[in-house]
Amino acid sequence: MTEHDPERATPYRIAVIAGDGVGKEVIPAGIEVIEAATRGTSSIIWDRFDWGTDRFHRDGAMMPPDGIDQLRGYDAIYLGAVGDPSLPDHTTLWGLLLPIRKAFDQYINLRPVRLLPGISGPLRDKGPEAIDFLCVRENTEGEYAGVGGRVHRGTAHEVAIETAVFSRFNVERTIRYAFDLARGRRRHLTSVTKSNAQQYSMTFWDDVFNDVKRDYTDVETASLLVDAAAALMIRAPERFDVVVASNLFADILTDLGGALMGSLGLAPSANLDPDRRFPSMFEPVHGSAPDIAGRGIANPIGTIWAGALMLEHLGLPKAAGRIMSAIETTTGGGSTLSPDLGGRAGTKDVAQAIVALLNQ
Ligand code: NAD
Ligand code: IPM
Ligand code: MN
Repeated sequence: MTEHDPERATPYRIAVIAGDGVGKEVIPAGIEVIEAATRGTSSIIWDRFDWGTDRFHRDGAMMPPDGIDQLRGYDAIYLGAVGDPSLPDHTTLWGLLLPIRKAFDQYINLRPVRLLPGISGPLRDKGPEAIDFLCVRENTEGEYAGVGGRVHRGTAHEVAIETAVFSRFNVERTIRYAFDLARGRRRHLTSVTKSNAQQYSMTFWDDVFNDVKRDYTDVETASLLVDAAAALMIRAPERFDVVVASNLFADILTDLGGALMGSLGLAPSANLDPDRRFPSMFEPVHGSAPDIAGRGIANPIGTIWAGALMLEHLGLPKAAGRIMSAIETTTGGGSTLSPDLGGRAGTKDVAQAIVALLNQ
């Protein structure tokens, strides 16, 4: 089971940004598991960056002015969560997480939704065979383009404008990525839009989808409106194999996906530059969970799973597979589950159980 890349004499270098809230608890758990999975085969250098809300209160910014340049040379970024009740969310997120996704052209956000063994999801009669799909989220533009402004602040004629931006270049490469993924799975791709109401951007998305589709006649497709898609994910999740959607729609649908998995704490996320010009970033889907932060009870599995996606991206699929098996054995065993899954195990207990399996 060893995995050694002879051409890779140097260690992998990972930038670690634990961030805020439970990010500080789940990231150490993830690192411990990745260390156990790669011990004796690949070596990893973890460089920790204390960026986040504490730094903002200390130095006036979430990250240093040259933060992006500091990250540029890394093989990947491992991130916990960003956001704290002491600051407005747009300040923290536009000060750290969102600029990284954009600067490193991480135009794909890949979010697996899968019911793990032993977990009873919220849907009666829908087991692991029914809940197994991959969301491909457009990750650098759309509703999160950052184009807009507020004028006449505080007056009766105050105006706020936030413009969504969709470019053919980006929509097309995102949809192609999703089609390619579908080819490696059950060959079904669902595109989610809202082209009945958003008559310019979403009809444009549909047009690009239909253009690209011609190159993938071996993949079956469906186009759904986002409201109907949300309902169908509950009623018949087995209808989804790969899902492609804009930044905001897929953000919402993947929290729904986390709920389908039995807990948001289980859901992983990979912010990818598939062209590998920049570091990609791996994080859980969930946020800093201020309601449970500091108590050592956050579920680390979403972050550990994101770590497995990171190893896969780095070219270490065996180590990634070992982590996935250990996660599945742990959830399947049912004795070491965190409170969000109805158990009593803490973050460290869950990580330890997974590490113990990896050390066997
Ligand atoms: P959240 O994802 O932090 O929490 C939603 C609910 O899920 C909470 O009840 C929380 O306790 C629970 N939860 C989340 N992670 C869990 C885990 N690992 N184990 C067990 N339970 C878990 O979403 P929110 O409350 O809307 O946002 C809190 C903060 O996080 C805000 O500042 C928000 O902007 C930020 N946020 C950041 C990210 C990110 O950094 N990627 C993602 C989402 C939200
Ligand atoms: C996520 C988060 C972020 C997003 C927020 C915190 C900006 O919800 O990663 O899903 O919407 O992308
Ligand atoms: Mn989200």
